[in-house]
Amino acid sequence: MIPSVLPTYNRAPLSFTHGEGSWLVEADGRRFLDMGAGIAVNALGHAHPALTRALTEQAGKLWHVSNLYQIPEQEALADRLVEATFADTVFFTNSGTEACELAVKMARKYWSEKGHPEKTDIVTFSGSFHGRSSAAIAAAGSEKMVKGFGPVLPGFTHVDWGDHEGIRDAVTETTGAILLEPIQGEGGIRTMPDHCLQGFRQLCDEKGLLLILDEVQCGMGRTGKLFAHEWAGITPDIMMVAKGIGGGFPLGAVLATEEAASGMTAGTHGSTYGGNPLGCAVGLEVMKHVADADFLSEVRRKAGALRQRLESIVATHYDVFEEVRGHGLMLGLKCVVPNTDVVQACYEHELIAVPAGDNVVRLLPPLTLTDEDIAEAVHRLDRTATAVSLKSKAPA
Ligand SMILES: Cc1ncc(COP(=O)(O)O)c(C=O)c1O
Repeated sequence: MIPSVLPTYNRAPLSFTHGEGSWLVEADGRRFLDMGAGIAVNALGHAHPALTRALTEQAGKLWHVSNLYQIPEQEALADRLVEATFADTVFFTNSGTEACELAVKMARKYWSEKGHPEKTDIVTFSGSFHGRSSAAIAAAGSEKMVKGFGPVLPGFTHVDWGDHEGIRDAVTETTGAILLEPIQGEGGIRTMPDHCLQGFRQLCDEKGLLLILDEVQCGMGRTGKLFAHEWAGITPDIMMVAKGIGGGFPLGAVLATEEAASGMTAGTHGSTYGGNPLGCAVGLEVMKHVADADFLSEVRRKAGALRQRLESIVATHYDVFEEVRGHGLMLGLKCVVPNTDVVQACYEHELIAVPAGDNVVRLLPPLTLTDEDIAEAVHRLDRTATAVSLKSKAPA
């Protein structure tokens, strides 16, 4: 019999009742160190007092009015994002997938309004993940995601990750944009080098294309800059944001330059819930922390400390791990054994890690994790790797 919850997930038999900082408490009382943060969502950890306060204060005043009216919290958050980034304007969504939908629509509308309705094609990369809507799965294009969901939305050209010549060849008269994650999350923590991002910006400028960055997973301070593309010294035309921006409240956004957004006039897009007072009150509080220069420099310091220790774990447990990859607190351990075995063993050692493509285990902790949390995570990972190694050598 089908379960009452549609079974689209293979869920671990873990059920958490509450959390605090980097820790999650299971129904049976066990305390798990959370190095997954709900897949890069809980940027300020669990039950952060300032976020709880922002949410409950707003909840006592006003939850929802719809976008038919002015929403001061929405305007304040949009102002803050515009002030802190390349963007001139922001549209709020409830998820990364919805941000992808709008990014695609915005690019196509831009060209349509410019008198080039034929420029509907968007070049994307293998291993990408942009969400689960029809546009997002078409953008990613992997067999696994689109199989059985045809007809697949047309207008996406897929290039192999790292194939720089391929991208030039993929750009044609009908290309309007290039879309990529500066660091692929679901694809296995694969970082696009700075010089490649610079090359894509150059190519877009040269050919008059829009550069769309998906910073749903790698943005909001995760790499130690507010957004990952800042490391490369470039700016996109359109950017998708979600996950960390709400710290656990469902919130997403599309940020854009005035030029890229020029086709999006009244009536061209909308959302009942997007940018509601609750979400934006929380988002404003998240921004207060995450956009702070001292907070970001702490992220970089902690990321350096974690990475250094992970490198030595990899060197010690070379029969389990192959390499550390990623940037800041968006790290991946490429595994020698199946990554799902490692994640399972992490659970047995009361450590939360997240599997990804390319046989990688992701570590995406709250950005607020402490030095003690880092030491404990490394200790638990060390014990996990020893257990995995012993198991893999045990006679069947
Ligand atoms: C890079 C990226 N884009 C888009 C999405 C989709 O976001 P959501 O699950 O909030 O719809 C995700 C989710 O994992 C993601 O990692």
